[in-house]
Amino acid sequence: MILDGKLVAAAKREKIKEETAELKNKTGKTPFLVAIIVGEDPASKVYVKSKEKACEKVGMASKVDRLPDTFSEIELLELINKYNKDPEVNGILVQLPLPSHIDEQKVIEKIDPIKDVDCFHPYNVGRLSLGTPVFYPATPAGVIEILKYYNIETSGKNLVIIGRSNIVGKPLANMLVQKADFANATVTIAHSRTKNLKEVARQADILIAAIGKPEFVKADMVKQDAVVIDVGVNRVEDETREKGYRLAGDVDFGEVNKVASAITPVPGGVGPMTITMLLQNTLKAFKVQNI
Ligand code: GUN
Repeated sequence: MILDGKLVAAAKREKIKEETAELKNKTGKTPFLVAIIVGEDPASKVYVKSKEKACEKVGMASKVDRLPDTFSEIELLELINKYNKDPEVNGILVQLPLPSHIDEQKVIEKIDPIKDVDCFHPYNVGRLSLGTPVFYPATPAGVIEILKYYNIETSGKNLVIIGRSNIVGKPLANMLVQKADFANATVTIAHSRTKNLKEVARQADILIAAIGKPEFVKADMVKQDAVVIDVGVNRVEDETREKGYRLAGDVDFGEVNKVASAITPVPGGVGPMTITMLLQNTLKAFKVQNI
């Protein structure tokens, strides 16, 4: 079975659109997301544009500050401070990665936690790990929404995540071990230093790949009938394509599809869910700040 992220995202975005309209009626205000991008990273530019379009489609306001890679850390911190103080701004998102002269952690920590729609601030990461979250990080939340939509039970299952990033692997593990619906899993985080990775991965009833290596997960790493979620979005050179590249996941879809009982494609799997959950967080921020 193909787990269709586009379908899940469309259903969720419809609900977000309705709730946005209701909130506008009730408060006379519009949820407002500010995105900041520094530099010229091509993938980041595409993501930010998609976030802007997605806001518009559900009736939210958004603004993107596109800044040159010469923009200094101090200037960025001051800009964040301005948006922190602006009561019209509900969510602030700084697109990562940042140029190397800017300290990413310092920037994340400058964002007012109540406007931190990425759920990257230590306050929100802490709340998430305690099981008392305000926000859920977008990509991990998107993975869980797909599992929910297709009624894939996680409770008591062996769930292996390959990848330990602060954006996906770690927070996703955190969410899935909680004593909560669509959690209660027995979670293993595997990574580049894991010994016998193949054997570890083969223990998984649910295998989640989030390592950023194109087609890393092969069929012999997957147990028969496991559920496979592919979080990877990798650009692979391909001269036959107009853009000169194609998108590849972290999973070799062609071979793993034959072993898995269910699998997300790339594109069209987790990708569309990430922006959807960002919209959900912007709505949450608006509600916390206004109701
Ligand atoms: N870079 C890669 N993923 C993300 C994300 O979810 N949010 C932000 N701000 N930057 C990213």
